[in-house]
Amino acid sequence: KQINTFHNVPNTDWILKANQNWIQEVKNRWSKPTSIFGEVVKVVGVAEKNRETISQIGWNGEQPWKYELADAEDYKKALEGTSTWYTLTNEQRINILRQAAVEIENCRGDLIGVAVTELGKMVTEVDVEVSEAIDFANYYAYSVEQMINEGIEPVPGGISLVLSPWNFPVAIPCGGVLASLAAGKRVILKPSQNAAATAYLMCNCLWKAGIPKDALLFLPAQESNLDEFLTNGNVFDAVILTGGTDTAKFLLNRNPRLNLYAETGGKNSTIVTSLSDKEQAIKNVVNSAFGNTGQKCSATSLLILEKEVFENKSFKKLLKDAVESRIVGNPWNFETQVGPLAVPVSDKLKKSIETTPKEQWMVEPKLEGDFMLSPGVKWGVTPSDFEYQNELFGPVLSVMKANNLEEAVKTANGVEYGLTSGLESLDQKEIEYWLNNLMAGNLYVNRGTTGAIVQRQPFGGMKASCFGFGMKAGGPNYVLQFVKVNEDVIMK
Ligand code: SER
Repeated sequence: KQINTFHNVPNTDWILKANQNWIQEVKNRWSKPTSIFGEVVKVVGVAEKNRETISQIGWNGEQPWKYELADAEDYKKALEGTSTWYTLTNEQRINILRQAAVEIENCRGDLIGVAVTELGKMVTEVDVEVSEAIDFANYYAYSVEQMINEGIEPVPGGISLVLSPWNFPVAIPCGGVLASLAAGKRVILKPSQNAAATAYLMCNCLWKAGIPKDALLFLPAQESNLDEFLTNGNVFDAVILTGGTDTAKFLLNRNPRLNLYAETGGKNSTIVTSLSDKEQAIKNVVNSAFGNTGQKCSATSLLILEKEVFENKSFKKLLKDAVESRIVGNPWNFETQVGPLAVPVSDKLKKSIETTPKEQWMVEPKLEGDFMLSPGVKWGVTPSDFEYQNELFGPVLSVMKANNLEEAVKTANGVEYGLTSGLESLDQKEIEYWLNNLMAGNLYVNRGTTGAIVQRQPFGGMKASCFGFGMKAGGPNYVLQFVKVNEDVIMK
């Protein structure tokens, strides 16, 4: 059977005046967020009742709205429910997923508006993840079509729980939710409490596309209310977590039988050898280290320079200039290159900033208020330093020295994590050596370590960056790992 092909959608072209005007209209609309949501963002998928509400504090300290919290009783009701989603054919579900892609595209402006308002994420950065969310919808629809073509017919049933983070508030919840739905499951989304409204608006696109509210339930909650469902056995067919390695370890220690599929932290390196294009290397490193203000699990946080590069004064000056000239500011403005932090400085980031001797900063990070932190570069970090193993999740880059590529690879592999990694080199032998020896899920040559693209660069890690089967998001087997199949079909 002929199946549809898959294409990535383009990001917005911000050079065009029309698009600049369009985002200005979005900004104006979002200056009064409550006119879009009402006063309270509601729980969806279980019966209405009086619930605890929480005030959402935006990046600029304003309180844009409140949202409701679901309790354990709501989760119990949600688990007992069912949905017409189970009664549809795979073809009908695929068509609805494709419609979801259309609805997300139609809502691109408001998805940008809500994430900028709620998290201070830059317009350009949210735009890219809206494209990724659309790609997930189309790609997971395409994945099911391919499966069916190969004789694997997903059998509907079961329920997933998606625990999503705040740093990719559109694409990551969307990916977990859509993969579950594509596999014929119902799904509960428990978004990060810092990003509930963005997740709500993303779900709204999916409901509009025809996904029933009893198949996609939106239940923000305090973690403690989920304890009884995560502690024993497998209440959920899949728990899809994107978050901290400590969270994944905690959940599995408490309940080793939990069906956990987790993409967690990273301590990602970029190695720059003497055979690299230095200007290109600096551009890629600066983008990867400070994009989204360093709040990406895929960010470059260790820059490992081969001795000759480490000692090269002009390289050092170029890097310093590139970092110092980054424009820190308002996430709505196009000239901004580093936006605010979405959450106040973490303990680890604070520790790094407070314990580093002044003279070791090549560029010293400066905090203004709770959220505006300018990029920092710490020079001459060694494996015994705090920054080597600890994910700071902010705009601080640690620079290390290695005598040769072999030593650089050992240093890069010495961290607990294995999510992304970059090599800057124009030499084929070096590239091959690095590809064969570096232990990380996503290996990027001369490209930077962030911004995986659905289908072309399936995303996922190894070592402490991954728990579960380790299938990569946006890759060929991602939906398959959640699929139940009719065993008669397999026997044939
Ligand atoms: N997929 C994102 C990236 O590649 C991280 O979640 O940067």
